[in-house]
Amino acid sequence: MVYPIVKFGDPVLEHEAADVTEFDTPELHKFLDDMFESMYAAKGVGLAAPQIGFGRKIAVIDCSNGEDPAQKIVLINPRIVHIEGRQEGEEGCLSIPGFREQVRRAKRVTVRAQNAKGEEFEQTGEDLLARAFLHETDHLYGRLYITHISTLKRDLMKRKIKKLQRAGDWG
Ligand code: NI
Repeated sequence: MVYPIVKFGDPVLEHEAADVTEFDTPELHKFLDDMFESMYAAKGVGLAAPQIGFGRKIAVIDCSNGEDPAQKIVLINPRIVHIEGRQEGEEGCLSIPGFREQVRRAKRVTVRAQNAKGEEFEQTGEDLLARAFLHETDHLYGRLYITHISTLKRDLMKRKIKKLQRAGDWG
């Protein structure tokens, strides 16, 4: 099932999500399927559970946009364990539609997480994947990418969003 995406302004996006403690259950597998489906429907390369209203440390990533099943990644209770280098690039978020900003991120990132069975693994990604690891892990700790831009830009963005909210054009 495709869940609607929660938008900026909803408190679920700005609170640390709870750790997942039960693995390999039918509910978890169904939830992960729904997360991928919701992410593809929204045309994103990553989605965190709080973005569909569930405060749990679960994120999915697919930098191939559904083209290559080998690139599907499930991160449960992830932690960033190593970062290296630097990249500059535009970043957006499904929960802040219509906005994109330049965000400086590490170029090479190693994440440690659990899979659907609860097994721990580490994966290193570069460029877009490194960015996705950081962006999605941030979500699970209640941090949005706009915490990585200047206060001036962030305030301007928040003002524009308020205007959209008042006009009923935000969700
Ligand atoms: Ni996001």
